[in-house]
Amino acid sequence: MTTPLPIDFRDSANIELAALGQRLALIIDPAGKLDLQLRKLDTATRKSLSRLLASESWTSSRPGTILSLGFPAGIASEQLLIVNLPMRPSVDEARTAGAALAAHVAPGGLAIFAGHHARIEEVAHALALRSYHFGDHKTAAAPARGQVVFYLRHPEVVARAASPLAALAEGVFFTRDLVNEPANILTTSEFASRIAGMADLGLKIEILEEDDLRALGMNLLLAVGEGSVTPTKVAVMQWTGLPDSDAPPLALIGKGVVFDTGGISLKNPGGMEDMTMDMGGAALVCGVMRTLALRRARVNVVGVVGLVENMPAGNAYRPGDVFTSMKGDTVEIISTDAEGRLLLADVMWYAQQRFKPAVMIDFATLTGNIIAALGAEYAGLFCNDDTLTSRMMGASRTESEGLWPMPMPPAFDESLKSNVADVKNKGAVQGGAIIAARFLSRFVQPGTLWAHVDIAGVASLSRDSRLAPRGATGWGVALINRLIQEHFEKS
Ligand code: BES
Ligand code: ZN
Ligand code: MN
Repeated sequence: MTTPLPIDFRDSANIELAALGQRLALIIDPAGKLDLQLRKLDTATRKSLSRLLASESWTSSRPGTILSLGFPAGIASEQLLIVNLPMRPSVDEARTAGAALAAHVAPGGLAIFAGHHARIEEVAHALALRSYHFGDHKTAAAPARGQVVFYLRHPEVVARAASPLAALAEGVFFTRDLVNEPANILTTSEFASRIAGMADLGLKIEILEEDDLRALGMNLLLAVGEGSVTPTKVAVMQWTGLPDSDAPPLALIGKGVVFDTGGISLKNPGGMEDMTMDMGGAALVCGVMRTLALRRARVNVVGVVGLVENMPAGNAYRPGDVFTSMKGDTVEIISTDAEGRLLLADVMWYAQQRFKPAVMIDFATLTGNIIAALGAEYAGLFCNDDTLTSRMMGASRTESEGLWPMPMPPAFDESLKSNVADVKNKGAVQGGAIIAARFLSRFVQPGTLWAHVDIAGVASLSRDSRLAPRGATGWGVALINRLIQEHFEKS
């Protein structure tokens, strides 16, 4: 597993800036005066610092920007980095600065002088997230990373604020690793064993095998995995952080298709390799569960993920087949490539029957159609409750993880009508993401507050983003962690 960069917080009193680290970064308020330590450094560098701060490049720079001086005279560091950050930055400004600093972590270490700035824990968090590197399958050695140390006033206060964020970063990295891993390595069995490894953190883990799933009647889920040699599984993760272990939990459900060929309704070969990320919903749920356990959150949450591979084979399920879901509704298969909704239907039903959750949120790389609608900037939110919608939207804004509410009126059920069964698994092409949500809504029990999040566009990107290199983003772990913290946790 990729572990976040270790970051230290130390007292900035009595340190000699001129003697620190291969690289030295100074976090400076654009309008602020230089304090004693910075004035001493300015003298040591023969006024390089004050010249830079008087320059047009500095005065016109935006918060979060870094200007750099190479091999400045009079100090040990090979590079001096000047970071523009207001004394009281917004979360967003702090994270922009942290993300920019990630490019400067040198093998010989990075010392960051932060003085009195607020929100340094957010700077550190973004630095850690942006330093993620998935290199497990490159034979060349991973880039060496030296120590990162923040020097500031009251390091113990900042370290305390940074600790839940470190738990979050670990959750995000867990999700990213799962999403980035190819399907020959991350089989359903490997996925289940990585989940089982989280028992050490105090999570209660159960892995349901095919015999169990048959006994439960999860025929839609089993149908999807029929053509694959890697066995279909359901993983159940329980975090019980409340003294009342029976208090109804929040249920998080994830689509874990370790590879989606489309099955007999085979996908085009072009870009099919991207379907290694079709387990992004399950990975998100695992990352949240890991974060909750690491920070010992005061909440009851259950994560349930369906792990399955969608392959064509002699025994694979086919268009025209009819299966009875765990709920009892019959489903006519039109496309074996609309597999995500099938497994979610059974997994959601199972979670509701067993745990009677007050709120249920499912995550899935469900449709190409949501990418047509919202691109790579927003996941689609389909929700049957306005309060839950606005809470999720609030968490999305705070965490800068794009989410946008979509409609799901019953009018879209029309195209799912089947001549032979209760419902078809594929309807019209237009409005496809909404139709998929309507299909899922059949499997939500009356009274359950439910949100469906279609993350097909955001789970993995072909370009770098602010807080992640290209590939898995870990989108949603921070958003859901924030939602739980603000609206589900008892303080
Ligand atoms: N896993 C795909 C959706 C997807 C597409 C995720 C692109 C990420 C990037 C899903 O199983 C799928 O194949 N959906 C079909 C549904 C259709 C057959 C109704 C789609 O979107 O084309
Ligand atoms: Zn899929
Ligand atoms: Mn598919």
